[in-house]
Amino acid sequence: MPIQEELAAIVGDAHVLTAADSLSRYETDWKGWWTGRALAVVRPADTAEVAAVMRLCHERGQPVVPMGGNTGLVEAAPPSQAGDEIVLSLERLNRIRSLDAVGFTMVVEAGCILQSVSDAALEADCFFPLSLGARGSCQIGGNVSTNAGGVNVLRWGMMRDLVLGLEVVLPDGRIWDGLGLLRKDNTGYDLKQLFIGAEGTLGIVTAASLKLFPRPTQLETAFLGLPSAEAALTLFGRARRDLCDLLGAYELITRGAMDLTIGTFPENRDPLSTPAECYVLLQTSVSGGLDLRPRLESFLERAMEDGLVLDGALAESEGQRAAFWRIREDLVDAQYRVAPVHLRTDVSVPQVKLADFIAAADAEMAKHFPDLRPITYGHVGDGNVHYNVLPQPHLTEPVTAHRYEECETMLFDLTARFQGSISAEHGIGRTKRHAFLDITPEIELSLMRGLKQLLDPKGLLSPGRVL
Ligand code: LAC
Ligand code: ZN
Repeated sequence: MPIQEELAAIVGDAHVLTAADSLSRYETDWKGWWTGRALAVVRPADTAEVAAVMRLCHERGQPVVPMGGNTGLVEAAPPSQAGDEIVLSLERLNRIRSLDAVGFTMVVEAGCILQSVSDAALEADCFFPLSLGARGSCQIGGNVSTNAGGVNVLRWGMMRDLVLGLEVVLPDGRIWDGLGLLRKDNTGYDLKQLFIGAEGTLGIVTAASLKLFPRPTQLETAFLGLPSAEAALTLFGRARRDLCDLLGAYELITRGAMDLTIGTFPENRDPLSTPAECYVLLQTSVSGGLDLRPRLESFLERAMEDGLVLDGALAESEGQRAAFWRIREDLVDAQYRVAPVHLRTDVSVPQVKLADFIAAADAEMAKHFPDLRPITYGHVGDGNVHYNVLPQPHLTEPVTAHRYEECETMLFDLTARFQGSISAEHGIGRTKRHAFLDITPEIELSLMRGLKQLLDPKGLLSPGRVL
C-alpha cells in the first residue's frame, strides 16, 4: 500500500496533502530561499496521531521533517529537493492544555501560535516573555526546537530558559511524557534540554510546559540617538544598573540600518530631530509599585549630560511604542524588499567586544568588499548582532553567490578571532551546516553524532540538517 494511504488511515484523508493539493506553503521557506518537494504533507490532530505516523515511517524507512510556522531562517523546515521527505505539520496541535496563574505555568501544544500563547497569558494577568518579529505566525514547537531568542532575551532568557517540561515523540514513535511543572527537579539527566534547539533532528516536540511571569503594570519604551556603538555598549551597562535590572529589551540599530528601514517604508519615520550614528531601542517594565518613568527620565538626563545619548524620545502612547518597534522589526522585510537575495548572519561575541567586532567588520568590508554594504543591528544585551550584507545600491550586475560566500567566510573568521559564535539565535539548519561542521571540535561532533545515533538510528528525522 502506498504510504500516503497508510497515513490517511491514521489522520484521515483530508489531512494528507499530496502533489494534487497546493503544497507551496510547506515546500518553500519563509522568504523563498529554499524550495523542495514533499512526498506528502501530513497533519496529525494530536500526540497519539503524531506517534502513529512516526511508527509507520520508522517501519518503512521513510524520512520525515517536522514543521511549525515555517518562519525559520536557516532553511531547515522545508523538505528536500529529491521529493523523498514527508512534512509533518504540527499546526493542528493548537490547544492550550492548562494555565496556572498562581504557580505561573502554562501547558501548550506545539502548534500554538506564539502570539496566541502571549495573549492567553495576558488574559490571566500573566506574561510569557518570548517575543520576536514572527510572533504572529511562528509556533511554540518551533520556538522550542530552534531555542528561539528575540528581543527579550537579556532579561528572561532564550526559549531554553522558559521551558519547564516537554512532551516529545521519538523517531520510532515512542512518546516521552516529560511535561512536568516542576521548578526544581534534579533527578538524573535533564532530557528536555536535548530536544530544545535540536532543530527537529532528535524528536518531535508535541507540547511544552512554560514558565510565566507576572503581567507588567508599567512599560516604558525609549528611542535614543547615540554617537557610536561603543556608547551603546557603555550605556547598556549603566541602564541595567540604573534601571534596577528591569531592562527587558536593548536593541541596536546602526545608521545604515536606520536609513534602510525609513527609506523602504515611508510610514517609518525617524522619531528624533537630529540624525545619529546609531540608535538604541530600549524597553523596561515592572509589575509593582516602583515608579519607572521618573527613573528612566533621570537615567536619560545623566546619559545626555555625559554625551552617551544625543537625543531621545519616550513613547507617549501605545501607538508610538508600536511605531518605535516597527522601525526595528521592519528591518527584516526591508532587506528582502531592497535585495531579495543577500547575506544574513547571526553572530555573537562576548558583549564587551561587540563594538570592536562591528568596527573590525566594517573595516574589512570597506577594504575587501566595496561592492557590498553592511546592514547592522541586533541584540546588544546578548552580544548578538545581525551583520547582514546587501549589494551597494549602484551595482549594475547582481552579486554572485560566490561573492556572498567569500564575505561570509571573512565574517566567520573574524567571529572566531573574537571568540564568538556563528549562530547566536537562528540555528544551523542547512544554511550553516558546512561552516558548523568545519569549526566544531571533533569531540563535540562525536558526542552529537552519538546522541543522533541513539535517538534516530535510521537517520530518518530531518536528514541533512545540523549534522
Ligand atoms: C531579528 C531576527 C531576524 O532580530 O533575528 O530581526
Ligand atoms: Zn535577532
